Amino acid sequence: MKRPFAELWGTGSYAPARVMTNDEFSKFLETSDQWIQERTGIRERRVSSKEETNACMGKAAALQVLQETGLTPLDVDAIVYATASPDRLLPSQACDLQAILGAKNAAAFDVGAACSGFVYALSAAEGMIATEQAEHVLVIAAEKLTSIMDWSDRTTAVLFGDGAGATMVRRSTNGRGILSVYLKTDGTLAELLYRPGGGATHPPSEELLKDHSYYIKMAGREVFKAAVLSMADACDHALERAGLSAGDLDLLIPHQANIRIIEATAKHAGVPMDKVYVNVDRFGNTSAASIAIALDEAVKCGRLKPGMVVMFCAFGAGFTWGSMVVRW
Ligand code: ACO
Repeated sequence: MKRPFAELWGTGSYAPARVMTNDEFSKFLETSDQWIQERTGIRERRVSSKEETNACMGKAAALQVLQETGLTPLDVDAIVYATASPDRLLPSQACDLQAILGAKNAAAFDVGAACSGFVYALSAAEGMIATEQAEHVLVIAAEKLTSIMDWSDRTTAVLFGDGAGATMVRRSTNGRGILSVYLKTDGTLAELLYRPGGGATHPPSEELLKDHSYYIKMAGREVFKAAVLSMADACDHALERAGLSAGDLDLLIPHQANIRIIEATAKHAGVPMDKVYVNVDRFGNTSAASIAIALDEAVKCGRLKPGMVVMFCAFGAGFTWGSMVVRW
């Protein structure tokens, strides 16, 4: 059997209405719009309200996909949900969404691969299609990161935002679909980007609340270096596995963490910036949701059209990284 086994069918996304600018951070943190824009390329991000739960955002994105595909929740065989900021720790976010959507025929599970989550989730969905476990796999990537970031830590607070994206994965038609996948992990570097407390080893306690160790901690400079190297590695391997070169790509959608990482990735891959989709300026880093939101925007604004070749490239906590080449 040869690829493509599976294609992405329809897209959707959701962004909370509340826009938070860089200037708002400078009112309570020692930072500035200039620093944030120069170092990250971020101008603003979306911040969810209490009512905009991870599941609500995921549902909004999923409903767009269902509307576009003409499927009903009962047609969904599986829900694969990528998130690092679920509404609660047990059961999985996917189970809650399955209930809210009324997708009672769907098996549902989460993928925990942080910012690489959407690519990992698509890979899992592709496997379910290829092995005929499912006909329609709803892939959702949603984050409510502003709930798990430390608003008093300028080295992380200014970077993240909330939102959701979704797509349906089905059997490939007309040669369209996933041409290659490359996934990698280096768990030995976990502590450069992690949430130390709140899990079973360090369950909630007064101490934990005091030292803020249930929030995201990041060694930014080290993560930056690893992200540039890993995303370059991922692009090379995914292109090679697809039997393609950079010149064959119509669009690169990289994880939107930092414009400097995006530019370095594009430069390494040999993709000019006019073929790179960028929305980090408007959303900041929405972790697993970042490529999914960018994909929906790229489709809706006509940057990605049927038959074009697009590469996703991601890097996140774990460290996890990966790339996927798709004929749209
Ligand atoms: N405002 C002003 N100054 C700041 C801020 C801020 N918001 N944050 C840090 N600084 C200061 C630092 O304290 C440091 O000051 P010092 O020189 O006096 O010590 C100085 O700016 C430079 O700090 P660096 O960390 O070296 O700055 P850098 O250019 O590396 O930018 C950044 C920091 C933006 C975090 C960058 O390292 C980065 O983007 N890292 C990667 C993040 C990422 O990609 N994450 C992806 C995965 S996320 C996930 O998986 C959930």
